[in-house]
Amino acid sequence: MSNIVIVGTQWGDEGKGKIVDLLAEYADVVVRFQGGNNAGHTMVVNGEQFISHLVPSGILQGKTCVIGNGMVVDPNVLLEEIDYLQAKGIDVGPDKLKISERAHVIMPYHKQIDLAREKKKGDKKIGTTGRGIGPSYEDKAARRGIRFSELRDAQDFQEAVVSNLIEKNFYLEHFLSDETVSPDAVIAEYMKYIERLKPYLADVSVFIEQAIKSNLQVLFEGAQGTHLDIDHGTYPFVTSSTCVSGNACSGAGVGPKVISGILGIVKAYTTRVGAGPFPTELFDDVGEKIQKKGAEFGATTGRRRRCGWLDMVILRNAVRLNSLTGLAITKLDVLGGMETLNICIGYEYKGKRIDNFPASLNVLAGCKPILETIPGWVEDISPIRKYDDLPQFAKDYLNRIEALAETPIQIVSVGPSRDETIMLDNPFL
Ligand code: GDP
Ligand code: IMO
Ligand code: MG
Repeated sequence: MSNIVIVGTQWGDEGKGKIVDLLAEYADVVVRFQGGNNAGHTMVVNGEQFISHLVPSGILQGKTCVIGNGMVVDPNVLLEEIDYLQAKGIDVGPDKLKISERAHVIMPYHKQIDLAREKKKGDKKIGTTGRGIGPSYEDKAARRGIRFSELRDAQDFQEAVVSNLIEKNFYLEHFLSDETVSPDAVIAEYMKYIERLKPYLADVSVFIEQAIKSNLQVLFEGAQGTHLDIDHGTYPFVTSSTCVSGNACSGAGVGPKVISGILGIVKAYTTRVGAGPFPTELFDDVGEKIQKKGAEFGATTGRRRRCGWLDMVILRNAVRLNSLTGLAITKLDVLGGMETLNICIGYEYKGKRIDNFPASLNVLAGCKPILETIPGWVEDISPIRKYDDLPQFAKDYLNRIEALAETPIQIVSVGPSRDETIMLDNPFL
């Protein structure tokens, strides 16, 4: 039996949704363990595109999906997503979706604080998705957050909202110069949500344990990416959760012993949406070409993604931080038609070579990528389904990544659809 964790290795949007949807065929349960609706995971099945923000990407394969305790959940967005999927004929009933009672609830004031803070920061803003993610995780760490467990108990919930709003309203009014929030309106709104969501609540740790004991296979779906991780990313230009594989355990309620493989999703080049350092970013026609051909617009906010060459410093960092056992290279098709390609193999800082990702943003800002140039290929590789049929230069590119990452490539994705995939070594088989 295999239980596989899937994580992003770069700054998010690596194509996790596509690979989770593809591999969910072999899993019985798919669990999201961190983040919230800052995520936008795209799946394309039979020509139709689905973007999920909260519901795990196993839902289209008819698998049981789990929202883990490590997530922060906006109940309104979740209900909209459930309705949207159900309108498409996909079963998202309480048998198919379990929500952890321990997951934290995103409140209207979290969103409001997120947006008002970004506005106040002006040029120094992080470029958050504005979904209230940071303020919600802050309340969790400050031990004043509201979990589904409190939300289901009307008395507890009302007391928690009133007590939270004393502080939040002061902060909103006097620091952020924003409007205050009425407790009654929030309570009335959220009581409606919980009525619909109650049947979905579960102790997901117990549920996953039972699944594993019954020899079912679990896929843990990461959101964001290793370099948006609160500890290991480009702090403070990060999200507010732990995105690395270790958090699959804490955010779902399992121990590390149950994990059998960790697949890192690697876009064949690099993108980043929002502010923050990006050493291999391209500001020229090549960057523009990749952005256009790769249709690099954020799946959650629609913002244009910044584009650059593949960066092996960050990929090696991701291999170590996540203990990756395999790689899935996505969007290789986008690089077709370029005369040459560059791979960043290290950084140069004040005349010295750096091989490990620096903690200091000032050092990072002074790092120049050391680029290795290799020939590109002209062919459209999107119809190819076998590794042997790839052009030699595409194979050379993959071989170089594999050698530099010291990690085997298990999947190559050559298009957004589920079937546009070259499977080399299925992590579940
Ligand atoms: P995620 O957040 O990691 O799930 O990634 P997103 O869904 O935000 O962004 C990835 C985008 O690339 C989506 O529009 C996918 O449909 C698309 N995509 C995924 N894999 C491939 C691929 O191999 N080739 C191409 N051309 N597009 C892909
Ligand atoms: P998926 O799962 C790309 C970025 C935001 C911003 C920073 C903090 O689709 O890969 P937040 O709203 O989390 O406080 O924003 O993190 N960000 C993402 N970038 N993909 C994502 O998710 C992201 N989720 C957050 O753009 O820079
Ligand atoms: Mg995304």
